[in-house]
Amino acid sequence: MPSLLSNRLTRRILRPAAALVDKRIQRSASGLRTDLETLRREAKELREQQTELRNQQYAVGLLFDRTGRSGHRVPSPAEINGLVREIAAVSGEDGGLARRNVTIAFRNVIALESLAVGRLAGSTSNILGKLSTVPLLKPPNENVLEIGTLHGLFAATLMRMLHRAGVEAELTIVDPLVGSQLQPGAGMGAEPTGTPVREDVVRANLALGGRAGAEARVQQGFSGDPKVRSAVSDRKYGVIIVDGDHSAEGVASDLEWVEEIVAPGGIVVLDDFGDRSWPGVQEAAEKHLASGTSRLELLGRVSTSAFLRARA
Ligand SMILES: C[S@@+](CC[C@H](N)C(=O)[O-])C[C@H]1O[C@@H](n2cnc3c(N)ncnc32)[C@H](O)[C@@H]1O
Repeated sequence: MPSLLSNRLTRRILRPAAALVDKRIQRSASGLRTDLETLRREAKELREQQTELRNQQYAVGLLFDRTGRSGHRVPSPAEINGLVREIAAVSGEDGGLARRNVTIAFRNVIALESLAVGRLAGSTSNILGKLSTVPLLKPPNENVLEIGTLHGLFAATLMRMLHRAGVEAELTIVDPLVGSQLQPGAGMGAEPTGTPVREDVVRANLALGGRAGAEARVQQGFSGDPKVRSAVSDRKYGVIIVDGDHSAEGVASDLEWVEEIVAPGGIVVLDDFGDRSWPGVQEAAEKHLASGTSRLELLGRVSTSAFLRARA
């Protein structure tokens, strides 16, 4: 039997319908082509955006990562919230003030460490804790002593934090500054910055601390040396940062000296208290405070620093 389609009449009858089907197929084929082109264009744009974001992230990483310093500078929200709680508890101030100080301290750390010769020592949390808490404890006078400065950058940053709280400090620093960090009994690894621990470096960094930094008195030598002690025991200090010899004997000796030179109501910051790398700090401090003869009382701890106040 001849096929229906071979019949001319049938073909003529079906032609409009076939044309319609053809048109529909063409239209959906071209629609598919357009969809595909759109998808390709969007995929290309996404790839470009991803590359740009990766490059941006890399550049931000260069500003905040651990290369050339003691650790990364990327605190998590949980770390900052924890710091705020600890600072508020130690200082008795409200959380809003503590958070403002931590935020401003963080900006200063990033700005100054970016410009510095050398680095700040310690974890970001510990550095921020010290910088934020000291001004909130309202030191009784403007005299500040730092025992152990390394590159002088913490002292410079603290000068800025005190200045913004209205205190233009008179800074004294004691450090042997013999070219590298000294820690009796502890094997010090290579300095991550490659920068020497020298007075010219300390001076370059102190210049970032405003007038108080630029005019700082730098006493080269060991805090246990009687000549060094006598050279800087000419005043009572409102703030003393103890961050030199971290052995139990070294901290005990520094605390004995601190008792003599701290002003009534003065603040003493014991760095690396509770830090497992430096067990001698907590050991010596607890022994000293338990002696019953100390003028110092423990206010509390922020990160790995203990804050003490001298009784009036
Ligand atoms: C941990 S670093 C100080 C870090 C600095 N305070 C900071 O926050 O960036 C310790 C410094 O104390 C110095 N040092 C060691 N023994 C000392 C002593 N008996 N007296 C004074 N400084 C000492 C070290 O050479 C080093 O420069």
